Amino acid sequence: MVGRFGIDFAELLRVQIADVTDLLTEKEISLEVDIPDKILCEADRTQMERAIQNVLVNAIRYSPNGEAIYISLLNEKDTVYCEIENTGVHIQEDMISHLFEAFYRADTSRNRNTGGTGLGLYIVRKIMELHHAEYGIKNSGRGVVFWFQMPQKRSIGSSI
Ligand SMILES: Nc1ncnc2c1ncn2[C@@H]1O[C@H](COP(=O)(O)OP(=O)(O)O)[C@@H](O)[C@H]1O
Ligand SMILES: [Mg+2]
Repeated sequence: MVGRFGIDFAELLRVQIADVTDLLTEKEISLEVDIPDKILCEADRTQMERAIQNVLVNAIRYSPNGEAIYISLLNEKDTVYCEIENTGVHIQEDMISHLFEAFYRADTSRNRNTGGTGLGLYIVRKIMELHHAEYGIKNSGRGVVFWFQMPQKRSIGSSI
């Protein structure tokens, strides 16, 4: 059963970040967050927690020690925008379009013992689709950015 209640996305994000504190400390990854006090939106809390968790763990796991993660959240015109960027690594351009496929792992991860299954981003994709979100992964100057944007409110009759 999918909830259509308003959730505070800012709080959800803060809680998920708090959950990965130990991982961040272990890899000496610094964190810079730009999150407002509160952003209400209609989303499935449990599913969104799962999506954010997957993305955060990826950002930490696939960055070298001592790098940084930048997280921003904002809303504008009834749309929520979120970016999670990790530095010190890039993804080969021809692999980017496959990242959201089930069991796909970029070469470097397949060869390294990073412990994933390649399902994380496939799950993220399903959850993003459920929320009618636009989303993607891109290389930035300093690293890799996962981004998404979604409407704060469902239109009548559309289900999440
Ligand atoms: N933030 C990121 N930075 C660098 N590479 C990433 C990042 N997120 C995902 N990747 C690459 O995308 C692949 C797929 O990610 P995912 O679906 O979560 O599977 P898994 O983490 O189990 O390998 C990873 O194996 C990794 O190569
Ligand atoms: Mg993963």
